[in-house]
Amino acid sequence: MTDTVRIFDTTLRDGEQSPGIALGEEDKLAIAHQLADLGVDVIEAGFPAASEGDFAAVKRIAREVRGPVIAALARPIPGDIDRAWDAIREAGRPRLHLFLATSDLHMEHKLRMSRDEVKEAARIGVERARGYCADIEFSPEDATRSEPAFMIEVCNVAVEAGATTINIPDTVGYATPADYSALIARVVAEVKGDRDDIYISTHCHDDLGLAVANSLAAVEAGARQVEGAINGIGERAGNTALEEVIMALRTREDHYGVAVGADTRYLFTTSRLVSRLTKYPVQYNKAVVGRNAFAHESGIHQHGVLNERTTYEIMDPMAVGQGESKIVLGKHSGRAAFGDALNTLGIVLEDEDFERAFERFKSVADRKGEVTADGLATIVTDEGALDEVVRLVSMDLTGGDSTTPLATVKVESRGLTLEFAAEGDGMVDAAFVALTQAFGVDATLVDYRVSPVTMGADAMAAVDVIVRMRGRTFTGRGVSTDVVQGSARAFVAALNKAAHKALSDAVGEPT
Ligand code: KIV
Ligand code: ZN
Repeated sequence: MTDTVRIFDTTLRDGEQSPGIALGEEDKLAIAHQLADLGVDVIEAGFPAASEGDFAAVKRIAREVRGPVIAALARPIPGDIDRAWDAIREAGRPRLHLFLATSDLHMEHKLRMSRDEVKEAARIGVERARGYCADIEFSPEDATRSEPAFMIEVCNVAVEAGATTINIPDTVGYATPADYSALIARVVAEVKGDRDDIYISTHCHDDLGLAVANSLAAVEAGARQVEGAINGIGERAGNTALEEVIMALRTREDHYGVAVGADTRYLFTTSRLVSRLTKYPVQYNKAVVGRNAFAHESGIHQHGVLNERTTYEIMDPMAVGQGESKIVLGKHSGRAAFGDALNTLGIVLEDEDFERAFERFKSVADRKGEVTADGLATIVTDEGALDEVVRLVSMDLTGGDSTTPLATVKVESRGLTLEFAAEGDGMVDAAFVALTQAFGVDATLVDYRVSPVTMGADAMAAVDVIVRMRGRTFTGRGVSTDVVQGSARAFVAALNKAAHKALSDAVGEPT
């Protein structure tokens, strides 16, 4: 039978120890519910002795979140253990997680304890915890820099006292896959032996960027629990990124030969929730959950993926909740890729409309480097399929802080090129007044909104406007890296609709 690897999530404990992260109780509860939806096996909800806030959040999670085991961290001292138990006692499946350093460095400089004292403290602590609950995890902190024989001795003391999960932390991210794997193999042989009720666990930090590789090496060596955090957040460089481990085990089941219980379709939303609440951004090229993880920009890759997704994708973006693969259009994309992208969006543009939209896309791509499908939709929608009564050729803006803003617009209408200039309360207002003159309509601006389409210093903004003319309202949208230009495009779109209406009223067409 295939072994299952337990997924132990410590986003709310080790993850929350990341510099600058301070999650409130409601935030922690929301993440815990999301982790339960994701189907992790264990949620380490916090370190209750660390603060009142941590205690309250762990208690709430233990009371309200069902499904996963709810673990609380404690040092092997009575005050910590009692407090941790008090926090998780209402959980459906509580676990106490005790840790004590076993490296000479930590014992001498941090704990100021001898080896015998550490062994005794581990025994007494686990026994006390075991008096409260049956599910006890023990971690010899800084295990990878500990003398292996001594570290293993302490683990055996913990097992004799009642611990059933032995977690081997690479606390400072020092291990390499080969030496971590060898250490885990030794712990499996000397601590677990042939006992089916003992789990050996991995807990890696990413100081050398090896946390995921080390965790996977540990699985190959017999670890059957992997600890980590969503998006790899955690102390210093972070923890093992759980989404990566889960997808590596799933995608390469042929290699690892183990199962994981998580519902991977929740990975993306879980990642985004954690990112939003912790305010830690997810890097664009982050494996599995990065926004570019399933995005293709080069023409050759685009061509391959459009014909057969698996030419350049080893995972299905749907399987991790990322939706469809993304074809990212850049300045090197041609009409074919552009047309494909429009088709995917359900937008049909022909002949001149297509050419105009393509030119517009190229000029944006030239400035921005890339245009995503979302950005593309917005770029082309303000081109519209509607014939333009008036077309904006160019716009000049002068004035500003000390002088009255003046907008001069050059427009084309019925084969004529005309110029109109107007002052306004600001650049946007001046542009609007000049354009209403160009259209020759008596319109007022009743709503104006700006929203970002892309992020960054050169972000594109979408401007949405509503103008009123003769009691009727008309909407328009414009997109640009420049808000006044975007506004002008939005006005032109709305005023064209208004002008069409005025024309059809004049010739008596049905409306
Ligand atoms: O990194 C570490 O050693 C830990 C332990 C508390 C498990 O987070
Ligand atoms: Zn840690």
